[in-house]
Amino acid sequence: MSTFVPPIRADLANEVPYGAPQLDVPVRLNVNENPFALPNELAQAMGAAVAAIAPELNRYPDREAVELRAELAKYLNSESGVVVTGEQVWAANGSNEVMHQLFLAFGGPGRTAISFDPTYSMYPEYARDTFTRYLTYARNDDFSVDVADAVQAIAAEKPSIVLLTSPNNPTGTAVATADIIAILEAGLAVNAVVVVDEAYAEFRRAGTPSALELLAMYPNLMVSRTMSKAFGLAGARLGYAVASTQLIDALRIVRLPYHLSTVTQVVAVTALQHADLLQAQVATLRDERDALAQWLEQQGYRVAQSDANFILFGTFEDRDVVWQSLLDQGVLIRQTGPKGWLRVSVGTPEENDRFRAALQQAPGTEQEAQG
Ligand SMILES: Cc1ncc(COP(=O)(O)O)c(C=O)c1O
Repeated sequence: MSTFVPPIRADLANEVPYGAPQLDVPVRLNVNENPFALPNELAQAMGAAVAAIAPELNRYPDREAVELRAELAKYLNSESGVVVTGEQVWAANGSNEVMHQLFLAFGGPGRTAISFDPTYSMYPEYARDTFTRYLTYARNDDFSVDVADAVQAIAAEKPSIVLLTSPNNPTGTAVATADIIAILEAGLAVNAVVVVDEAYAEFRRAGTPSALELLAMYPNLMVSRTMSKAFGLAGARLGYAVASTQLIDALRIVRLPYHLSTVTQVVAVTALQHADLLQAQVATLRDERDALAQWLEQQGYRVAQSDANFILFGTFEDRDVVWQSLLDQGVLIRQTGPKGWLRVSVGTPEENDRFRAALQQAPGTEQEAQG
């Protein structure tokens, strides 16, 4: 028998699949999930909703997810006070898929996407998959976007996609509205779609606005959101984009037919109809975030200002040693961000206590905390 060498694209030959370790440890604070189980009332309602549609699974799902998109529009109105229609919302299997569709529709050979590092590490992969040129620009020391640099880069490189993450992952920092506006204006001048990735928006602090408020003024703005974080639905896979119908209709061109299963659609609709049940969890996580950030500062660490459900802190001479020590104590966090920094997702109060205790036990951390 002759040997078979899979004819993988040359540019993918040395790549490895993306993903943080999925380890079975007691305290998992590494992928910014909502640490709380779904409230029982919601879990029961989801089960009943899935049972009700199960006999109809012989049919393909609603290709346009009309009911779900209308529910998402209603939710956004209650969450941010912004009025959008279901036609202005697009849903897919996680915001990862939404963003992949965005690159399929607006990226491609000969086109450029730009972002501001450190930022979400999947963006370069969407670019790679779609043969889109990918450029990143360094953020300032406080992780804010260097707006003058960004505006200049947009004018010079004429990207078709600009990615702004707010609150940003892994830093947790929100982008100031004035900065978003300056980038939207620069994007308009070169016909770029500016995507504000608001995966963590529900955790933002009082006084931090959502970019949704700018939608009516900027036809080139797309806001991306997800139910994986505040809604505690990482396992259900539901992300969505909000924009003008012109932009949404472009995503509809590249989506695979029936991409969003009927099961996913009814689970998401049920969660949206019970959104009020989740508010207490989000409030607890914000309080825990603020308390944890304060504690880390008191320990002498540098702590990035977080509007998200995680905190970037440091700096460590050797972050891998600290990470490993925490893991040995049953606490999994993430080695990400600039050299010397670590990121911890906000857990339940008990998990956060475990993290604090473990960090105090980690070798060398007290002496090495700087700043
Ligand atoms: C900034 C940002 N955007 C998008 C995502 C993707 O989320 P999902 O595909 O679960 O909606 C994540 C996940 O961690 C993220 O951090």
